[in-house]
Formats: sequence, C-alpha cells, structure tokens
Amino acid sequence: MEKETLKAAILEQKKRLGVTIAAHFYQRDEVVEVADLVGDSLELSKRARDDEAPYLLFCGVGFMAQGVKILAPNKRVFMPRIACCSMARMIDASYFNASVEAMISAGIARENIYPVTYINASAEVKAEVGKMGGMVCTSSNAAVIMEHALKSGKKILFVPDRCLGENLAIKMGLKSAVIGRESPEEMARADVICFDGFCSVHQLFTPEDIDFYRERYPDILIAVHPECDPKVVAKADFSGSTSQIIRWVAEQPIEQKIAVGTEFNLVNRLREKNTFVLSATKPECPTMNETTLEEVKAVLDSIEAGTFINEMTIDDETREWAAIALNRMLDLSR
Ligand code: 13P
Ligand code: SF4
Repeated sequence: MEKETLKAAILEQKKRLGVTIAAHFYQRDEVVEVADLVGDSLELSKRARDDEAPYLLFCGVGFMAQGVKILAPNKRVFMPRIACCSMARMIDASYFNASVEAMISAGIARENIYPVTYINASAEVKAEVGKMGGMVCTSSNAAVIMEHALKSGKKILFVPDRCLGENLAIKMGLKSAVIGRESPEEMARADVICFDGFCSVHQLFTPEDIDFYRERYPDILIAVHPECDPKVVAKADFSGSTSQIIRWVAEQPIEQKIAVGTEFNLVNRLREKNTFVLSATKPECPTMNETTLEEVKAVLDSIEAGTFINEMTIDDETREWAAIALNRMLDLSR
C-alpha cells in the first residue's frame, strides 16, 4: 500500500476501533504522524495511563509499553513490534540483587540502601526496587527523585544507567562510584553507587565531536541527553530529557547554530532550526527505528479480527510491586 493511503487507513481504523497510538520522539516521522500522543518517557506514561480508549498501541520500546500496563492494568496495551531498549536489557532481577549484595559486601547495610531505577528497566527490576522501598525516575525528573531519595539519609543504588547516575551526582555535588569499577572502599565512601549499564546510542557522542563543532562554529551551542558520558555532558551547554532538549532548542533564536546529542529521528525533526547531529555516525536507536506503518496496521488488523498480536502481559505480583515504584515517582512529579 502506498504510504499516504496506509496512513489514511490507520487513522480511520484506530478511530473506529477505539485505539490510541502513542509514539516516543525517537520513532520515525511516518509513525509520529499517525500518533495521538507523542512525548518523552515521563509524559507518555502519564498521558497513556490517563487516556480513556480501551486499547493502546505503543510505538516505542518494551519498558515504555510495560509502564502503561503497570499503571493502567485494565487497558489492553500492544506494540507494533516487540522492540527492546538495549540498556534495559543489561539488568534483570538477579543483576539487581547482585548489585545490592555488592553494596552489602562493601559494608553498607541493606537497610541503608535506597534503590532508584531509571525508567529504562524491565517491570521485574522495577518490582525489586518497589519491594526495597525505592522508586523510578526518568531523565525529566531524575534530580527531583534523587533529592527525595537523599532525604532518607541512605546510600543510593542507581540502576541501570551509569551515565545518568554519574551526571546526576556531578550536578548535585555528590560522590559516585560504579559497581565493578571502583573498590569497595570507594563504594562505601560514595553517596550514589551506579550499576554499569549504558545506552549504546548515546555512547556514540564524544568530547571530540563537541570540539569539532566548536572549532568549526565558535558560537555554536551544544545540547545533549544525560545518557551521554559525563565527559560529553561537561562540555555541553545544555543537558536534558528529549522533551527538555526540544523545548530548549525551540527557545533559541532561529539563526543560532546548535548541535544535538541524541537520537537521529528527534534531531532531524528539529531541522527548521539551525541544528546538526552531534556525531559523525547516524545515532539511530536500532529497535525504535525499526517500527513501521505496516506493523502498526498489522496490530490494528489483529485487534479488528480479535486475534490480538503483540499484547503486553505482566504477572500480577510483578505488576503490583512495579506500580508501587512507578507511583512513588508520579506522586513526586505531578
Ligand atoms: P526520555 O525520557 O528523555 O524521552 O528518554 C528516553 C530514552 O530512552 C532516551 O534514550
Ligand atoms: Fe534505550 Fe538508548 Fe534506545 Fe533510549 S536510545 S531506548 S536508552 S537503546
């Protein structure tokens, strides 16, 4: 089917069937164009939870669709394809528990550990965090969540993104250590102990990329996502979540040159501004970028036929504990 015909068919069918389509900013343009809700991880989890349609088709990665199922268990949540965030796949419940044990071995008592998981983690990991009295954060609200967690007077276990954990610690004047990189003594001295996970897309941006653009255009401004390495964030003019980057770029005068260090589809949509992609390679999130209109249509067809492909399911116990961790975050970031 020709693309415009396919889009028109999707728009008609989703309305008729009562399906809301949510798309993260990293989705391809054609997918964003058929979506009802477009946003960052935090915005999408709140707006999709509050949406009244019985069906939600989430164009993003697994942890995002799972997040809606956790918060709105009666909603039937689907994905056009089962796409995973590679960072979220770096940690499961056993790695989480091994991280807690590593802190205990460094002399930190279990009761003195406050776990915070970046939303880019499975329901299983969120559930472990919920059981230990901890909570979720996103890149939009990470500083607020961290401030709250620190009020407990405990050591923070931050999973799975080392870069976000270290960037937060630097911003807040805290000492951080990375499990497996730093010694037990250094872990015991740190305020924030990070799991050693990372985003393969944001690792593509380097301090040299920033030097390159600053040499070529001395007045250029640089905006990056906090999943970038702290050495990159230190050289940037702005660091923030996807929606914060979009807002910050929009505030700049039209003639201002800006290089942006985040995923390609998002940066490419900012092209009416004077923007560059801050990387010599094309920083595509592989799984986000694979979702197609044909797959969106196939799920709508399956809802219409009653065969329901690619539906998200989470067992009740995991869902309930994960909901506790997610709702603790949402209560703090309304
Ligand atoms: P945001 O919450 O900023 O949209 O980030 C999600 C993500 O996965 C970035 O790589
Ligand atoms: Fe995960 Fe990185 Fe893709 Fe974001 S860009 S969804 S962190 S792999």
